[in-house]
Amino acid sequence: CKVRNYKFNVVLKNTTRLCSSKQIVTVNGKFPGPTLYAREDDTVLVKVVNHVTYNVTIHWHGIRQIRTGWADGPAYITQCPIQPGQSYVYNFTITGQRGTLLWHAHVLWLRSTVHGALVILPKRGVPYPFPKPDKEVVVVLAEWWKSDTEAVINEALKSGLAPNVSDAHTINGRPGIVSTCSTQGSEAAFKLPVQSGNTYLLRIINAALNEELFFKIAGHTLTIVEVDATYVKPVKLDTIVIAPGQTTNVLLNANQNSGKYLVAASPFLDTPLVAVDNVTATATLHYSGTLASSPTTLTNPPPPNATAVANKFITSLRSLNSKKYPAKVPLSIDHKLYFTVGLGINPCPTCKAGNGSRAVAAINNVTFVMPTTALLQAHFFNISGVFTTDFPAQPPHVFNYTGSGPKNLTTNTGTKAYKLSYNDTVELVLQDTGIIAPENHPVHLHGFNFFAVGRGLGNYNPKTDPKNFNLVDPVERNTIGVPSGGWVAIRFLADNPGVWFMHCHLEVHTTWGLKMAFVVDNGKGPNESLIPPPSDLPKC
Ligand code: C2O
Repeated sequence: CKVRNYKFNVVLKNTTRLCSSKQIVTVNGKFPGPTLYAREDDTVLVKVVNHVTYNVTIHWHGIRQIRTGWADGPAYITQCPIQPGQSYVYNFTITGQRGTLLWHAHVLWLRSTVHGALVILPKRGVPYPFPKPDKEVVVVLAEWWKSDTEAVINEALKSGLAPNVSDAHTINGRPGIVSTCSTQGSEAAFKLPVQSGNTYLLRIINAALNEELFFKIAGHTLTIVEVDATYVKPVKLDTIVIAPGQTTNVLLNANQNSGKYLVAASPFLDTPLVAVDNVTATATLHYSGTLASSPTTLTNPPPPNATAVANKFITSLRSLNSKKYPAKVPLSIDHKLYFTVGLGINPCPTCKAGNGSRAVAAINNVTFVMPTTALLQAHFFNISGVFTTDFPAQPPHVFNYTGSGPKNLTTNTGTKAYKLSYNDTVELVLQDTGIIAPENHPVHLHGFNFFAVGRGLGNYNPKTDPKNFNLVDPVERNTIGVPSGGWVAIRFLADNPGVWFMHCHLEVHTTWGLKMAFVVDNGKGPNESLIPPPSDLPKC
């Protein structure tokens, strides 16, 4: 294994999309940002230098960060932000992981433009558990706002209402044919050149702030081989669905003779009330020998409410669970947790558009309040008064979660964490609520992979539903969609000491408070405690 050094200069860059230009925050002037390559077992050192006027942090989404929570990145959870003019070296070792992940800013809404791919190759000499592709291609999906995203969220926070949806989705930074400028210069649509007969590994990443996306390619099926950097039993489908924070590797067999084929990324949103950016991002698959002027074979993306298409993909995923890559599903459980995830409405005298109230989001009716000292520091140095460990294990009020909501929509507020001992096993049922409206919530857990052992519609039934849990080969992930009006059950082993954030990866819901943290104590063994913080850890 080796040490990989990267330098991320956070700089402004004037960027043109949808035919108009604006300054965006970028890493090294790129949108999407640079791909970070490493191998399993490598140590990665990324020096992040903040040249902009915003506070910055970078999160290595899905990297386990075993004992190195200081390098995880969520602002005020594991570190204070890197202030303008300052720098910080993220130092972590990639232990027992290989596959596609992403890195992104983890403060405010900066990740709208500050994100990129993180590709972890297997150890040298270790093959993939699927046929070797002829070529690998990173495909980063995201969103684009014509106006500044920080302004969009600040405006929304002031008003108390939902922020504007994006103006377009992007494939490798380009909206595609929706932009009349897609044929020229810096916003020319992404073109993937292929050779008939070859196989391509597409490493697809959803870096969008607020939207789950369908992804499909005209005239081709996709063989899914990996999600969230864990191998799955290969499945062939023509459409995948991918939530913000999730990654999916597919094999694409270029089995046509020639031609151009449309690649489409379009929104998936299974809820009655919420607005969606219904613009499809496009790219083209271009067979070698095909004239640029030849017509493109089109494809119809599924409509945003195509829940059946999404479910087909989601329910087809199984861990590879081979001898070499066994699914280590926890079988005995120390903590059975049941968390409701959903929205609420809290008083806000200064919120004009919201008539003195504002939209909030909560887990078990707790709207998380961001601390001003990082939780990990408070935990490590025993600083009291920063957070409490009374996060409720069960919903505080029992009601028909997926029916019409309770009369009082006000949530509790607090900086609450749930405490675990080293190596405890956890079963967590995440229950969507219909308070205001049911909605998909892609929930991301930092510091761990978990197994998605069960999923259903309506209210989770602790007596009958566990009988149908898959404890053999459930898919292993770091981000899971809680279905609109339904639930998922996940299991994980708390073998990583530190403070680990869990939140909805729809940034608007995180902003509204759909977040909490687990605190995992040190174990007693020699390699079971959090290492002390690096000396350049930013101060608040
Ligand atoms: Cu990719 Cu806490 O996020």
